[in-house]
Amino acid sequence: MSTRDSWVSNVGFVLASIGSAAGLGNIWRFPWLTAGNGGSAFLFVYSLIVVGVGVPGLLAEFVLGRRGRQTPIGTFRSLIASRWGSALGTFNVITALVILSFYSVVGGWILRYMLASPTGAYFGQPQQFFGTISYGLQAVVFHLLFLGVVAAIVFFGVSRGIERASKVMLPAVVLFLSGLAVWTATQPNTAAGYAFYLSFDADYLVANFSSVLGPAAGQALFTLSLGTGAMLTYASYLDEDVSLPRNTLVIAFSNMFIGVLAGLVVIPLLFSQGIDPGHGGPGALFVSLAPAFASLPGGTVVATAFFATVLMAAVTSGINLLETLVATLIDCFDVPRRRATLLVSLLLAVTGSGLALVGPIFEFVSGTLADLLLTVGLFAFVAIVGWLLRAAALAEFRAGTDRFAVLAEPWLLTVSWVLPVVVLFMLTNTLVSLAGVSLGAAGRAVVAVVATVGCRLAVAARTDG
Ligand code: PHE
Repeated sequence: MSTRDSWVSNVGFVLASIGSAAGLGNIWRFPWLTAGNGGSAFLFVYSLIVVGVGVPGLLAEFVLGRRGRQTPIGTFRSLIASRWGSALGTFNVITALVILSFYSVVGGWILRYMLASPTGAYFGQPQQFFGTISYGLQAVVFHLLFLGVVAAIVFFGVSRGIERASKVMLPAVVLFLSGLAVWTATQPNTAAGYAFYLSFDADYLVANFSSVLGPAAGQALFTLSLGTGAMLTYASYLDEDVSLPRNTLVIAFSNMFIGVLAGLVVIPLLFSQGIDPGHGGPGALFVSLAPAFASLPGGTVVATAFFATVLMAAVTSGINLLETLVATLIDCFDVPRRRATLLVSLLLAVTGSGLALVGPIFEFVSGTLADLLLTVGLFAFVAIVGWLLRAAALAEFRAGTDRFAVLAEPWLLTVSWVLPVVVLFMLTNTLVSLAGVSLGAAGRAVVAVVATVGCRLAVAARTDG
């Protein structure tokens, strides 16, 4: 087997991981979800879930990756000596393939918007513009271009490709977003947007808690790139002397900061145009922002900067997903990196083009199917860490850290009992809406608790633990 690539520095790993986390989820989905779910109320619930569920979940993926030192298939083969290991790893690889297929289509839309911004081509008829570029031949072409950019980075490997690109792109994203947030603050009629976003409305929260919970939890997991084994793969290139808990906190909070910053741009802009943020759909953000860009001075420049920022954020997430697939071929089948990148990209060119051509399938795959695959994947990760590995997971948590070592046990307890319930609650949400059954939040919570206990007992029966 060839020697594995690795990060040059821990900073490179941290920047690449923040880059993975901060992507379309943060800049395109988060402001939109926030605006549609009560603004500050959503932000509050989301922050709690990031801290309580996202952080321990991300740590679980990092622990698995650094322990296994391989991509998901190899990691699970070595960590759980059973044929379930390969099956789970394969499931993760399929998940990464599915996510990147639709992600690359949206990346293509962003690229299209960035190129159309200097002339303001979509300012006049935003709805129509989105209609022509979203599905069909144009969408295929721009999906392929986006994929080409992502593949060109992964082609050069972890240290020379991913690490270098992340070190440039992530700071650029933060810089651009900060500039845009300042520009937004100088625009007229934005006060209502800030008030909605930043002032805390406890009554809204009490009245809508259960409906805010689902989207907030989904967003927290998606934005932290959990459930595909992508973060696991990045951690597989890490040394034992770095602190996983510290890295996790830095990554999760930086990601949250970038999301909040994106909200400071998007939400006041929407309000300044009197746009009701409650109605959505994949094209909503593009369509709604157009009149804001069109009516404000320097709109074309700002629009170009905005979409360039979103594009960079999307690329640094795409490379994590592609790396997971490429590294699987390298680790498991000894395929040289360049050939592996080419092969996987060809496959994605086909799968993504299929989605770019058929809107309803795109919506199903990027919505329900993605939710299902990510939650099942994450459930498997937390079950392995919390129910099977246990002592080995604690040792991996503690390796390279002094200050956070005391948190190892509480973390494992959270991963063993809190996370499975939350993840199964989300899975129940998706399944219930897929089956069209009506079951209240309390009913879904009961299902999640019973299923967790059932799974725990089943695992204990098989492992005598
Ligand atoms: N976290 C990325 C985003 O918010 C999406 C992603 C999911 C990336 C899973 C990698 C793995 O856009």
